[in-house]
Amino acid sequence: MPDTTVMDKLVSLCKRRGFIFQSSEIYGGLGSVWDYGPLGVELKRNVKDRWWRAMVHARDDIEGLDAAILMHPRVWEASGHVSGFADPLIDCRQCKNRFRADDPRIKGTPGQPDAQCPVCGTRGSLTEPRMFNLMFKTFMGPVEESAAVVYLRPETAQGIYVNYLNVLQGSRQRVPFGIAQIGKAFRNEITPGNFIFRTREFEQMEMQFFVKPGTDAEWFERWREIRMAWHLELGLGRDRLRWHQHAGSELAHYARAAYDIEYEFPFGWNEIEGIHNRGDFDLGRHQEFSGKKLEYFDQAANERYLPNVVETSAGADRVTLTVLVDAYREEQVEGETRVVLGFHPAVAPIKAAVLPLVKKDGMPELATEVYHGLRREFPCFYDDSGAIGRRYRRMDEAGTPFCVTIDGETLTARTVTVRHRDSMQQDRVGLDHLAAFVRERVTPAV
Ligand code: GAP
Repeated sequence: MPDTTVMDKLVSLCKRRGFIFQSSEIYGGLGSVWDYGPLGVELKRNVKDRWWRAMVHARDDIEGLDAAILMHPRVWEASGHVSGFADPLIDCRQCKNRFRADDPRIKGTPGQPDAQCPVCGTRGSLTEPRMFNLMFKTFMGPVEESAAVVYLRPETAQGIYVNYLNVLQGSRQRVPFGIAQIGKAFRNEITPGNFIFRTREFEQMEMQFFVKPGTDAEWFERWREIRMAWHLELGLGRDRLRWHQHAGSELAHYARAAYDIEYEFPFGWNEIEGIHNRGDFDLGRHQEFSGKKLEYFDQAANERYLPNVVETSAGADRVTLTVLVDAYREEQVEGETRVVLGFHPAVAPIKAAVLPLVKKDGMPELATEVYHGLRREFPCFYDDSGAIGRRYRRMDEAGTPFCVTIDGETLTARTVTVRHRDSMQQDRVGLDHLAAFVRERVTPAV
């Protein structure tokens, strides 16, 4: 049974603590578009950094790319998005609401007098299903009437395909090799929702791996393994992750095989990343539509071929939501509820908080010094207001793995208390070793 109260609590915590706000909130908000506040932007950056590190910096066979959001309109004809990236939708002529054709709340047959609008209840006001393209359109050029229609990209992958030869030549890579990119994508989703799970503006972390035809199935399996391991290294619970294989009719037009990595959210199991064997569909289509040869010449084998592509495609916002949901917990401590975001230290927005026990006896001065020292290396937070227990709780809610307390002994023995967020246990650490103590625990292995 989906537990939506956890989501409500998380959404409220995210707003209260400065992780995520609704876009344009003072104007009543913009549907399914969200802004990241001070803690949220750090969290999402850390997720993206972990991905970039694993996919680009830690490998010799993948290059990075940052392609533009606006692309030649023919790209989207070649990719199949102009003709195929559409959902069947139904309009209510009375209240002007729009519904997906498979909306379970619709009673009767849309287009017929018996059909009833699920919002205003009018009978006979629903249109027959009509295809509605999910791409956002805009105009390029100074005069709107004569300007070319361009699209906001609905996926980052196409920027990789159209640049594959440029990257190949510039980097001196050889097939098999990959191109990775993180960037914004836009979809005019009809049923967005569940906070940042499905939004109209989002970021993707996509990698296209170009391989020799015939080796695609093997690379597909290899990439499935690598990507699942990455999610586990982020600290996500193994029992809340699973595979979902796309069966025949579910397969996208471009895919020979596809698996989703799914996570068990409070609103049910849902996709967080797709791994696709796209064969030569994309390069073949771009070759056909652009008229430019996109074949690879394998010098060693003296043969030419169009590489096959294995794609790994994750949503940065969706993985950030997964990290938040996975980290959220409530515990009973001494008769009070303690709310903790138990992030993996590598993705925690703030690594350490520095807290003078009292605001006197030189403690704030020394604490400020310690704070400035740590801040050179890690995002830190200084807090001297309120009882120490309350300050710890505030840091638990922000997911800060370590609280460093400056007390009487710090002044005499130059040691501090380091309180661990998860166990709440405390260690006594010498000031000289403090930075190393934190560094050792927040720096990921890869
Ligand atoms: N290039 C392939 C592709 O775009 P997709 O399954 O449509 O495949 C890949 O999207 C990933 O992008 C999803 O697994 C999800 O994490 C993220 N994603 C897709 N649509 C999204 C949306 N409306 N809001 C947030 N994330 C989204």
